Amino acid sequence: MKIGAPKEVAKGEARVALTPDSALQLQKLGYDCAIETGAGTAAGFSDAAYEEAGVEIVKTPAALWKAADIVAKVQPPTETEAKRLTKGKTLISFFWPAQNEELLELCRSKGASVIAMDMVPRISRAQKMDALSSMANIAGYRAVIEAGNNFGRFFTGQVTAAGKVPPAKVLVIGAGVAGLAAIGTATSLGAVVRAFDVRPEVAEQIESMGAEFLMLDFSDDMSGEGGYAKPASPEFIEKEMELFRAQAPEVDIVITTALIPGKPAPKLWPEEMVRLMKRGSVIVDLAAEKGGNCDLTVPDEKIETENGVTIVGYTDFPSRMATQSSTLYATNIRHMMTDLTPEKDGTPVHDMEDDVIRGATVTHAGEITYPPPPPKVQAIAKAPRKEAPKELTPEEKRAEELAAFKAQTKRQVGLLAIGAAAILAAGLVAPASFMQHFIVFVLSVFVGFQVIWNVSHSLHTPLMAITNAISSIIILGALMQIGSTSLLVTILAAVSVFMAGINIFGGFLVTRRMLAMFQKS
Ligand code: NAI
Repeated sequence: MKIGAPKEVAKGEARVALTPDSALQLQKLGYDCAIETGAGTAAGFSDAAYEEAGVEIVKTPAALWKAADIVAKVQPPTETEAKRLTKGKTLISFFWPAQNEELLELCRSKGASVIAMDMVPRISRAQKMDALSSMANIAGYRAVIEAGNNFGRFFTGQVTAAGKVPPAKVLVIGAGVAGLAAIGTATSLGAVVRAFDVRPEVAEQIESMGAEFLMLDFSDDMSGEGGYAKPASPEFIEKEMELFRAQAPEVDIVITTALIPGKPAPKLWPEEMVRLMKRGSVIVDLAAEKGGNCDLTVPDEKIETENGVTIVGYTDFPSRMATQSSTLYATNIRHMMTDLTPEKDGTPVHDMEDDVIRGATVTHAGEITYPPPPPKVQAIAKAPRKEAPKELTPEEKRAEELAAFKAQTKRQVGLLAIGAAAILAAGLVAPASFMQHFIVFVLSVFVGFQVIWNVSHSLHTPLMAITNAISSIIILGALMQIGSTSLLVTILAAVSVFMAGINIFGGFLVTRRMLAMFQKS
């Protein structure tokens, strides 16, 4: 059978559903490939590159839709395109069946099978076909780049000869695929990143990427089905807004990605919050196409508010990186075709028992098969909510300290008793002269240990703090010996003071310089 990709007709759409690389893989599955002339040009793939990969170049859209048994596309078909479908043809594209009922009915009436790439369930096995995640990943990355483009400062903090530059503070709201991609990009550029999500299971992912998870003391679990969130209660949203209100004057860049599938985007960054932000700050509202998380977002536009905050509401971030997004999208489609072609014989098999194929198929064999039943496998295991550290009252704090002190005293008294018993036992057999030196030795070890371990770790590492404490004791010992009558002892003591001094002061200097390099604020 033949898989064909037409040129996208939606205004500004630069992506293409078939790349030369994906065509090579599809041919291995037994399919012939075709492309409408110029379909890949905006994404950086020339007709010549396709020809080299063995793809047939078709002159007109009508000829392509006629020749292809399987049509692969990015955007949902227009009415004209859908009318070109015939019985037995398969269409693979984004489709948004819930919002496109008439289109769905038209495709059904034509007898075509439609696989909606936006309906691939979020289960582990389907990750390689999850085009929404591929696109959201690109959108998250691009959101940070776009923010940087509109922000007048560095992301990373720097200490330069001309002065110290503080790092940018980035707040990411919603840590789904786009949010996590934004967190990864912003942290790798050196910004200080904070993030919030209603689903507790993402806290660890956020922290593992080097960002701070903003904790909200609220007991509801907002995790819904299929790896998505469920709508938050008004009380929760109120608490969340309180959290953001405290962040607004501090942060330089806000990237909002909060979304509940099938619902308008929750309004989490109202005008009041924008007003609290500093001049020059940037908001990138990834939820713009669903109404935006920010009240002032204008979809598809970039605006500047009276107080100098730039709000970016573009809805075509993946298309702005068309080479990358086409490569990922074409690979998602190729994996879908691999699942549909178990025999690798160029003939798709619609196995409606397969969770992924069932979930994504919205019309098949003259029937509308949307909505699908929930997948049998759960998307992402729900993790227990990470508790905010409990606030202790002063009485509780005192009681806790007292208990810790009692336990420590008990341990020390026990150790002293064992030590005393051991010395007594040694005294019974050892000569008196040995015991005198032995007791001095034991006491010095004890005092030395206490002095060194009680040094507070104000240096770069506890190890450095301890080696400095040891050096100090060396200096003390050497100072006691420096007035000795023996010249050799005096010289050795002076050398010890000198060497230990280098260790201490050099350590301080090096540590200070290292800390200055890493200090972000
Ligand atoms: P997702 O469903 O993986 O992530 C959304 C996250 O928002 C979830 O983690 C959810 O728990 C969280 N969330 C929901 N309500 C919240 C609340 N009240 N407070 C905090 N977090 C909340 O979605 P994905 O794939 O990451 O996409 C994110 C957004 O990016 C969507 O709005 C999507 O439409 C948009 N998008 C925009 C593109 C563009 O070009 N502008 C391109 C691709 C995606």
